[in-house]
Amino acid sequence: MKPSVPANIFPKWFNGLRVALAGSAVLGGAYVVTLFAYGASPVTLNVGFAPEQPVPFSHALHAGELALDCRYCHTTVEQAARAAIPPTETCMNCHQRIRTQSDALAPVVASFASGDPVHWKRVHDQPDYVYFDHSAHVTRGVGCVTCHGRIDTMERVRQEEPLSMGWCLDCHRDPAPNLRPPEFATSMDWQPDRPAREYGEELARARGIRPSTDCSTCHR
Ligand code: HEC
Ligand code: HEC
Ligand code: HEC
Ligand code: HEC
Ligand code: HEC
Repeated sequence: MKPSVPANIFPKWFNGLRVALAGSAVLGGAYVVTLFAYGASPVTLNVGFAPEQPVPFSHALHAGELALDCRYCHTTVEQAARAAIPPTETCMNCHQRIRTQSDALAPVVASFASGDPVHWKRVHDQPDYVYFDHSAHVTRGVGCVTCHGRIDTMERVRQEEPLSMGWCLDCHRDPAPNLRPPEFATSMDWQPDRPAREYGEELARARGIRPSTDCSTCHR
């Protein structure tokens, strides 16, 4: 796996520039070439990015073997745009008793004592000019596994999908094959009992699910 380009390869002002380009794109085709050039730039190609974390926290162990629900730690996915990263207290619910002498857990124990959070590295990170909302997806029946892959088998989290504009739009134009009842949003192995498209089209009709493709949905 090739390590990815650092997230800050572009200077801060670049975000502003890109939004300005978005405006220009509406005015004329001259910028299309430029946009394609950026579209093919490495920021959209982070698939496989899996930074080493300050603590070797394993989703394969905690979400897989121990079968903890995603929402035990990522508590905000149904209410907020952002999926919260759990505070040290959540870990200490168990680790005040389990593996208290482990070297791997030493930074967590130190964080609990000092009150300074563990500095987890971000895996997924979209540019500031993109608006994404977890609750809008999770409560309408797009499962975590559709966008993040089999997290429950990962020793270290890696980005599974490109998260590019084309990737978002593919689903916004045709969400049916990716819909499930929202109560199974965190299940990693849920399967429909009929062909996925048929199942999803019924669900979309019944619940009036029609993702928008307006620019302002994701760029506001
Ligand atoms: C015991 C707590 C815990 C549980 C349960 C848990 N996670 Fe996590 N998750 C974390 C922590 C801590 C991090 C930050 C460190 C890391 O990336 O491994 C994280 C990171 C992530 C990230 C990457 C965040 C980023 O920086 O982009 C994703 C995606 C994720 N979790 C999805 C899931 C899914 C899906 C489930 C359920 C199948 C799940 N998690 C269950 C604690 C948990
Ligand atoms: C529901 C209980 C529970 C929670 C909550 C929990 N863990 Fe664990 N954790 C365990 C168990 C059980 C083990 C396996 C212990 C063993 O192998 O003896 C473990 C193992 C670990 C290990 C490996 C320790 C070693 O010595 O190899 C690390 C690191 C770890 N957890 C980090 C975390 C972090 C960070 C969090 C919070 C984001 C967390 N855990 C939350 C139960 C939990
Ligand atoms: C429709 C796709 C999609 C679904 C469904 C989805 N995520 Fe995400 N997730 C993303 C994107 C895109 C990002 C990066 C957001 C950013 O950088 O602003 C992200 C980021 C995260 C992060 C890092 C914190 C943050 O909000 O940036 C965590 C943790 C996470 N997701 C967990 C989950 C869990 C748990 C579920 C299921 C309950 C889930 N995600 C469902 C696309 C998705
Ligand atoms: C697998 C399918 C899928 C993918 C991938 C996906 N979406 Fe969505 N999105 C949906 C569905 C379904 C809805 C809910 C539509 C509804 O409520 O009618 C939604 C809703 C949204 C909303 C909420 C709009 C509102 O009314 O508040 C935003 C914002 C959004 N998506 C942004 C994104 C972005 C940005 C990406 C890519 C990073 C993305 N989505 C990827 C399926 C998807
Ligand atoms: C469903 C969400 C979504 C919608 C709708 C959407 N975009 Fe995007 N857009 C994205 C995402 C995600 C990125 C960031 C891709 C990346 O990481 O490079 C992006 C990036 C861009 C960029 C930066 C250049 C690039 O390709 O990286 C421009 C310009 C842009 N969008 C313009 C538009 C315009 C104009 C519209 C309306 C016709 C639109 N977008 C509609 C999600 C969306």
